[in-house]
Amino acid sequence: MCGIIGIVGKAPVAERLVESLKRLEYRGYDSAGVAGVVGNSVERRRAKGKIKALEEVLAADPLVATTGIGHTRWATHGAPNVQNAHPHSAGRVTLVHNGIIENFAELKAELAAAGRVFESDTDTEVIAHLIDAELATGLAPIDAFKATLDRLTGAYALAVLIEGADNLVLGARRGSPLVVGEGQGEMFLGSDALAVGPFTNRVIYLDEGDYVALDHDSARIFDASGAAVTRPVRVVPTSAVMMEKGNYRHFMEKEIHDQPEGCQRTIAAYVDALTSKTAVPGDVDWARLERIQIVACGTSYIAGVVGKYLIEQLADLPVDVEIASEFRYRQPALRPGALVVAMSQSGETADTLAALRYCKAKGMKSAVVVNATESTMAREVDVVWPIHCGPEIGVASTKAFTAQVSVLTAIAVAAAKARGTIDAAEEQRLVKVLLEAPRLIAEAIGLEDALKDIAADVAKARDVLYLGRGPMSALALEGALKLKEISYIHAEGYAAGELKHGPIALVDDKTPIVILAPYDSWFEKSASNMSEVMARGGQVIFITDTEGVKHAPEGAKVVVTAPASDPLVSTLVMSAPIQLLAYHVAVIKGADVDQPRNLAKSVTVE
Ligand code: M6R
Repeated sequence: MCGIIGIVGKAPVAERLVESLKRLEYRGYDSAGVAGVVGNSVERRRAKGKIKALEEVLAADPLVATTGIGHTRWATHGAPNVQNAHPHSAGRVTLVHNGIIENFAELKAELAAAGRVFESDTDTEVIAHLIDAELATGLAPIDAFKATLDRLTGAYALAVLIEGADNLVLGARRGSPLVVGEGQGEMFLGSDALAVGPFTNRVIYLDEGDYVALDHDSARIFDASGAAVTRPVRVVPTSAVMMEKGNYRHFMEKEIHDQPEGCQRTIAAYVDALTSKTAVPGDVDWARLERIQIVACGTSYIAGVVGKYLIEQLADLPVDVEIASEFRYRQPALRPGALVVAMSQSGETADTLAALRYCKAKGMKSAVVVNATESTMAREVDVVWPIHCGPEIGVASTKAFTAQVSVLTAIAVAAAKARGTIDAAEEQRLVKVLLEAPRLIAEAIGLEDALKDIAADVAKARDVLYLGRGPMSALALEGALKLKEISYIHAEGYAAGELKHGPIALVDDKTPIVILAPYDSWFEKSASNMSEVMARGGQVIFITDTEGVKHAPEGAKVVVTAPASDPLVSTLVMSAPIQLLAYHVAVIKGADVDQPRNLAKSVTVE
């Protein structure tokens, strides 16, 4: 993840750009850079490392401009050096970017064939060349920008300067956040409200697919279709700017929507997008490892179960997953050749910490998959695997879950390659699949309106059943957990094959049954279970994908069609629908979504 800022100002901007970048440094600090309009041209200043290094560059070579853009980088494509630092320039265009352009290799080949020369290894530079090429055809800046956006696949937030178009900053967002700040005779663009906080508290949150042209006095906003739109201006309390919900009613809703960007950031830390190889940090000898013992609670435990499916199947490496509160009080048979992996968003959960310490005392090597990298668990383990999804405020875990699953997915691929159960070509294929997951998650979030309608019915239920097979059996547990913790409706998640061994007795025409079944090797079996349920009057909410919908039995009360995905990432893609269903049920019931009764975000007592 990177941080971006843009200012169309009346007063000098260099210092102000730097001030914003300091606020965005939590998003990355591999390099930093600014650019500004100076006379008829655009000048850049860039430095490797933290903002302090950029300040030194600016002290030696000041940038005197009143309109400019800035960037702090968290490297994905290309080494963290000055050459790859943003802003990137091509012809009349200079821009900064947060996100990953998935089709940059094809675009770069096309542009190179047309004679364009690249100076960096980044995916970003192709965007500058594309806009410049469109400008060369005679298009106006905003039209050249739109024509370029239409060619990009992947995630981006952009801020763009164009030589000859003074007092103009263009911006766009898809999959990465971007806000507009309204000043007095000045306009701002930033990755979040924090970035524009020193200059204004009047903030417009751009919607997915929006693009914008800023001048001194206005922000002309367009949606993805090119239609002019207005978005509400929100006054953000200065003290709350760190914890801002944006246009969302609840943190949980925001965090569900944060997932494409959160997962993208996570995945970028565990794979090398340039080589399509895994790059899992830490000293673990995957080839010799005998076993993994995962210990966790709640949603983190469920993420561990998904990991077990993936790691065992891909890497032929045995994985045990256990609820930490059980594990710590029995006498588990442990061996030093195993690795204990604690899974914890907070890194402070008392039961997980105790289970981790128990394993360490038995001489096991230890690791933690964690969000809070300064937490107790992170400080006590041999290997820290951060999930990089940013602070999660809602008590119901959403973006931490998909980030945890993303880490375990990368680990499964890395371990498989190291153990020789997949070859280099398969590793590359799987890494590419993983890199596409954020876009598919964003598409799945697009099902929100349909899920809101379904929620109206589910909100009337007393009990809800969730069924799935394979990794979807774990997601069934997560769907049930989400629903019960925030809506207080009783819900159970089951492996669908277990249905006939008991839970089928619950089936009646008042119990919604959510069946999670992407079109994978388990699909036919899940479809049979769906038929069994419907034969007994069950009201099925069938959540499948574009392939599954073609093969599903008739008779589901409602079918939700998620984007098709490789089985490697189907849990990530199918997560948003179950989270959104739970969220909207809770909203309809008027529950306290972000702070459900009896719960706490971090459970530091046993
Ligand atoms: O911080 P942790 O991941 O260790 O927390 C574990 C559980 O308390 C947590 O996942 C809890 O189940 C969430 N409320 C689920 O949404």
